[in-house]
Amino acid sequence: MNLFNVYPLYDVTPVKALDCIITDEKGIEYLDLYGGHAVISVGHTHPEYVAKLKDQLDHLAFYSNAIQNPIQEELATKLGKLSDCDDYDLFLCSSGAEANENALKLASFVNGKSKVIAFNNSFHGRTSAAVAVTDNEKINAPLNKQQKVTFLPFDDVEALENELKKGDISSVIIESIQGVGGLDQASTLFFQTLEKLCKTYGAILILDEVQAGYGRTGKFFGFQHHNIKPDIITIAKGMGNGFPIGGVLIGNHIPAVSGMLGTTFGGNHLSCAAGIAVLDIIEKEKLIDNAISISAYFQEQIKSVPEVIQIKGRGLMLGIEFDFDVSALRKKLIIEKHVFTGSASNKNLLRILPPLTIKKEAIDQFIIALKEALAEIKS
Ligand SMILES: Cc1ncc(COP(=O)(O)O)c(C=O)c1O
Repeated sequence: MNLFNVYPLYDVTPVKALDCIITDEKGIEYLDLYGGHAVISVGHTHPEYVAKLKDQLDHLAFYSNAIQNPIQEELATKLGKLSDCDDYDLFLCSSGAEANENALKLASFVNGKSKVIAFNNSFHGRTSAAVAVTDNEKINAPLNKQQKVTFLPFDDVEALENELKKGDISSVIIESIQGVGGLDQASTLFFQTLEKLCKTYGAILILDEVQAGYGRTGKFFGFQHHNIKPDIITIAKGMGNGFPIGGVLIGNHIPAVSGMLGTTFGGNHLSCAAGIAVLDIIEKEKLIDNAISISAYFQEQIKSVPEVIQIKGRGLMLGIEFDFDVSALRKKLIIEKHVFTGSASNKNLLRILPPLTIKKEAIDQFIIALKEALAEIKS
């Protein structure tokens, strides 16, 4: 059987990894500044994470959501404490799209409406409602286009209020910083107005923290830079450091009804063990502080690269913007300089999403590699 050929692949075959270093089958080491789409939060194969998973595997890997599972409660308590969101309830699932799917569905259950506001250039996943609120025609099939979605620009309060005023909006979904779209973010004033207008017009505010959450931006959640309190928060990626786990944090003004949401795999024992290990490591190793200080160092050092026209994003969720398409540069960085970086729908942007454990020396190594690659591309 062949694989369904949907991914453009680089010719690199990783076989092992430790912290920010990935090793391929030929023994070549790569610096990982991308964490496999912002997934690796506490570093590859962190010993505490590995030990926790192995121990859980020896006891019980899986049972469905039909029995008592105290590990889910331990995860929820730790997450509430570390994120300062302990007044939310947690629904566990297995991916970012699934988290958004459940958030949008829950909002619709709560207020009986079905229309959604999303923002230009958004990315929320590839399942039914999640892809419908994703601003990318190419990945929206006719089936998905049946959903009622209005896309608006950031920071346009008038357009937002005009849409909400119609009274038929179930929810508004927004990334605190756009990931795939290219690191754009709305202003604090816009986030705060959005929160107020959602309350006024009875729409549920969903913050998609699938990529920006888990300390990546220098606070546990990206929206915490704007001092707002969403009704629903969605999480995944960094939550399991590679183990598939996602979640929906639900404001306690939204009541749970038995059977309203559900999943076979979500919240299984092994995934919760991964989730707990990640939170313990983030706390113990003060990784949010590290994200802040390494980000500052990165932004200082990158000033020595004259081709860079702008740095976008926050913390360790950064975009380096050039005035040319970076696909050749990115390829050179991976294949010849052995550094993983990411792309965005803005073709001039390199995305930097390293493990939150990254050190200054790795940034120095990257700056040297970037300068060499730029010089070679020009010559
Ligand atoms: C902001 C955001 N939301 C949702 C998703 C979808 O997550 P998943 O690929 O786990 O379904 C992504 C993935 O890139 C994302 O960046």
